[in-house]
Amino acid sequence: MKVVILKDAAEVAAYGAEIFKKQLLKKPDSVLGLATGSTPVALYNELIKLNQRGDISFKQVKSFNLDEYLGLEGDHPQSYRYFMNDKLFNHVDIDKAQTQVPPGNAEDPVAACQVYEQAISDAGGIDIQLLGIGRNGHIGFNEPSSSLASRTRVKTLTKATIDDNARFFAEGEYQPHLSITMGIGTILESKKVVLLATGESKAEAIKATVEGPLTAACPASALQMHKDAVLIIDEAAASELS
Ligand code: F6R
Repeated sequence: MKVVILKDAAEVAAYGAEIFKKQLLKKPDSVLGLATGSTPVALYNELIKLNQRGDISFKQVKSFNLDEYLGLEGDHPQSYRYFMNDKLFNHVDIDKAQTQVPPGNAEDPVAACQVYEQAISDAGGIDIQLLGIGRNGHIGFNEPSSSLASRTRVKTLTKATIDDNARFFAEGEYQPHLSITMGIGTILESKKVVLLATGESKAEAIKATVEGPLTAACPASALQMHKDAVLIIDEAAASELS
């Protein structure tokens, strides 16, 4: 696992975008694994600029998102499908039919998880997976204690994650406690992994990821086993590293 420490969130986004640019120039029909949350938004803005300048194209890209809330329709403003359309897909030349987010409205969520895994495999696997990290070390919605071999499945969110994400929901608005998430085993099969972390609130999780033991107590520590994983973090997120 490689760790790149940069000054601030803007540098993290620019560095991460450069990796995605290189990937798309090398393989225009790349299969991208994408994430939501606050952290990747600046990177998506960089990719939008690069696309609008004609430096990169998403025309041949396929994408798979990490996770989705179970119980939200794709047009719900807090759904991750809505987020991806709003923050990236609506602004680049991607074919939306080639973008996949786990179906939060699936009638049979367990079957939908298997279909999702199969779709990733049919696409040839993920070439590059973007990740954020939760304060408790989660990746996707793989909360602490998730099996390191887990596959796409329905997962209950911890109170910590529900509380962290409450900021996106209006007071009194229904906030799901269940999700569909790619598993840690699924994530580890991506050819390349790029994890972004910024801010002091992520410092403990980054320390556990980089310097802690490989453990389900910190799901991101599984990346220690990946042969091409890079953590791009700012000085604040690196502040607990020894
Ligand atoms: C989002 C996701 C989550 C977030 C994590 C950090 O698709 O999978 O694991 O990456 O919760 O979120 P932010 O970036 O909002 O701190």
